[in-house]
Amino acid sequence: MKVDKIVFATGNSDKLKEIHMIMADLECEIQSMKEAGISIEITEDGSTFEENAKIKATAIAKELRKRGEMAVVLADDSGLEIDFLNKEPGIYSARYMGENTSYAIKNANLIQRLEGVPNEKRTARFVCAIAAVLTDGRYFSARATMEGRIGYEEKGTNGFGYDPIFYLPEYNMYSAELDPEEKNRISHRGKALNQMKQILQTELF
Ligand code: IMP
Repeated sequence: MKVDKIVFATGNSDKLKEIHMIMADLECEIQSMKEAGISIEITEDGSTFEENAKIKATAIAKELRKRGEMAVVLADDSGLEIDFLNKEPGIYSARYMGENTSYAIKNANLIQRLEGVPNEKRTARFVCAIAAVLTDGRYFSARATMEGRIGYEEKGTNGFGYDPIFYLPEYNMYSAELDPEEKNRISHRGKALNQMKQILQTELF
């Protein structure tokens, strides 16, 4: 069956821009949830990034199936894993210390929890899982990471979230010091989106 469109499960305009850029040559219409006319609340109660991404994509695919549409729904889930903290905050990255707590406070707290921890034990990674769920029930998944270390202070003003405390040894820079194009090229989300594009190209287009 022919796929008419890709619907991306986010309202975040930066993510939408990135997906448009990466998926542009698939020759398929790309819509946000809003553009597809979907506004449902989804509880992300999975225990892995992959499960949460699949839960979001499945819920939206179900809505589109009811309308008889043939579409691919993409959803992502991402977060920061710090090895010394048993991979916290992990899938709770957005909710860590409360959804409304500022990242200045969250970041200061994480640096404090790593006080006295030497460089080699400060390893961390951003993880991104992307799920593709088709309205006919097919499911594909992609995962990528960006490896680095938790720094000793906040640096940089680009990016968002935990970027100011995430140090990239190969670049000798913090993630919040990268320019946005460079970050998209090397980031967990950029790499996972490119992987997913290859899967869709092979399997569907
Ligand atoms: P989401 O699943 O993309 O909404 O990301 C969940 C949370 O993980 C975000 O709210 C951030 O706290 C954190 N996060 C994910 N990706 C990044 C990133 O590239 N930089 C900084 N923080 C990130």
